[in-house]
Parts: sequence; structure tokens; C-alpha cells
Amino acid sequence: MSVAFPMRMVPMEKMDIFCFLHVEDASALERILYTPADQCRRHHVGDEVHLRGLIEVSNHCARQCLYCGLRAPNTALPRYRMTREEILSSARQARELGYGTVVLQAGEDPGLTGPFVADVVSTIKALPGEVPLAVTLSLGERNDEDLRLWRQAGADRYLLRFETSNAELFHRIHPPLPGGPSDRIAQLRRMREMGYEIGSGTMIGVPGQTYADLVNDITLFAELEMEMIGVGPFLPHPHTPLGATQPQTAPARDGFEMQVPNSEEMTYKVIALTRLACPRANIPSTTALATLNQAQGRELGLQRGANVVMPNLTPPCYRAMYEIYPAKACLYEAPGQFHTDLLNRLAAIGRRPGQGQGSAAAPDTTTRR
Ligand code: 5AD
Repeated sequence: MSVAFPMRMVPMEKMDIFCFLHVEDASALERILYTPADQCRRHHVGDEVHLRGLIEVSNHCARQCLYCGLRAPNTALPRYRMTREEILSSARQARELGYGTVVLQAGEDPGLTGPFVADVVSTIKALPGEVPLAVTLSLGERNDEDLRLWRQAGADRYLLRFETSNAELFHRIHPPLPGGPSDRIAQLRRMREMGYEIGSGTMIGVPGQTYADLVNDITLFAELEMEMIGVGPFLPHPHTPLGATQPQTAPARDGFEMQVPNSEEMTYKVIALTRLACPRANIPSTTALATLNQAQGRELGLQRGANVVMPNLTPPCYRAMYEIYPAKACLYEAPGQFHTDLLNRLAAIGRRPGQGQGSAAAPDTTTRR
């Protein structure tokens, strides 16, 4: 089968990415972007879809990010923190469903102390089974002492989205803690040194984000050689500054619209371009995408570059409280039912659930970046 351009795309030119992001014709997109991204995905990471059991362990958050429903000033949100036993019971459920990885995700919650998380991680790693579960942490910006402790306890991977590569925009939408401004890219590099597989990502269409910013986000993924990359549309939350009022958007310049739309199509374009820029990365088809298109979003993400799904294993009594944005998909689906449906949906698009931990594929000689 012929492809529009070679499989090995890195380094992609920024101007190419910029142009792809502006293509609007559906059949052109299919031909020059989505089909090559799908072929690239199959060639480099195969047809397996790795399933990561997501456990949203706490919705407490010390931060005031302008877009996120978990932000500390949102007093309308009831808060919860799962107990050790609750977390372990969700992890056992992941095991029973055959998932190779659990992801422990939370707001930036100082109540999740270093020793507490370390104990949970080492207990999960010791759960009976042929291969230990891989443990991914997604607990925000934490100090090196905690990060090291958790790595020693057995944590394998860490997800920390940099959200935008534009430092000015980043600081505008992430007011710092009293300790001073944050540097997520520096934390990602330090975690790589500590031996974590690292993951990051961005939101698409956050107010103030330009096309040039998005191009830089995608090339930064490749530059940092991310093992995991999650991208999803910005979804306004009414109890946040960016959801409550008409937000400040990037102005038009030279006839080009500068503000990136937070649309479904733009999300597919970014997934596809990310696959072409980072052929071996693990890329989820995210819940935010499934929220925009409940019927087909997840499948379309998987057919345009993604190879991971993160089924939600948070106990039903807490689900609705992990409201980073409104009307999140899968709020009410029980894990068992979701799993059965997911297997059918994967089969319908010719894909199969992954076996084992599903770590990032090691580069081979033909595709080394
Ligand atoms: N819309 C879309 N994504 C959001 N996130 C947080 N708030 C929103 C929102 N309003 C994303 C961020 C964060 C991830 C866990 O959820 O990218 O890193």
C-alpha cells in the first residue's frame, strides 16, 4: 500500500506540522494524515491496544489551574481520598480484568504522602499474578524525595502533562504554589534520570493557544523522547475562570486564525501528527475525546494513531467527584460492563487487547530516532 510520505518522519519539519494542522478537507485529511498515522502505528507498535486501569485516588488539589474543576478554589466540589484498601481493591479488579497496568491519578494532593503512596505501590507490585502489574503514577508536581521513594517502591512510569510548551501561557493558566514557579519539563527530565518511563501531553484549544504553540508541543514530545503522550481537547468547566467567562483567545494574524479550536477534528490531527513524530510512543485515545464524541471518539482516536485505552476503575461512589471537566464519558459504566463492551468495540475495528505490561516498544535499528 502506498503512503503519502515515509514512515520515518522524525524530525518532522515544524512547517509541515503547521500545514497539516490547517488542512480541513475531510478526504485530504484521511489520505495525507489519518491513513499514514494508522499505518505508522501498526508498523511500529502493532494492533494491540494496551489497557491501563485508571484509579482516580483523590480529587483534593492544592493548585489553582485556571481550567481544571479540581482546582482548590472550587468549593462546590465535594472532596474524597481513597483509602489504602479501596485502592488495592481497584488494583485487584485491574488484575482480574487482565489489565497489565494501573494508573494512580489524583489532583496535587499533599495528603497523599510520600510513605502512603510508596506503601500502596509496593503492595500493588506484590499482588499475586504471573507478571507484576506495571504501576504508573500521575500525581502532579512532586518533590524529588517523593519521586525517588516511589520509584524505589516499584513505580514504573510517571505521567505529567506539560499542557503547553508556551512558557508564558503555561504560567498564565497555572498560578504557582508559594514555593515559586514550576518547571514540569525539568521534572520530566529528572524522572527520566530516576528510571521512570515518562509521559506527558497537552490540552488542545486551551484559550490563548496558537497553532505555533501546538506545533512546538508536538516537536517537544519528540525532542524529549516521551514514552507516553496523552492529548485531549480542552473542555470548559463552569466553575473555573476559563469556563465561566468569555476567555481570552489568541488573536488572528496575517490572515491566519491564531487560536487553536478545542474541536474533535483538531484532536485527531494532533493524535495523528504525534504518532508520526513519535512512532513508538504509547498514545491513549483519551476520555476527553470520548466525551466529545461518545459514539465513536474512542475508536476514531485508535484508528488515527492511538494504541492505548484507560478504562476507569475508580469506585462508582467517587467517579462523579473527579470532575476535571463536565459530562465526562464513562461516569456510570461499571468496569465489568465497560470491559466487555470495549473488547467488542476493539474487535469491530480489527484490534485486540494488549498482553503483559505494554511498556514502550524499544527502538529497533530501522526506526531508531
Ligand atoms: N478540559 C480538558 N482537559 C482537562 N484537564 C484538566 N482540566 C481539563 C479541562 N477542563 C486535563 C489536563 C490534566 C489531565 C489529567 O486532565 O491536561 O493534565
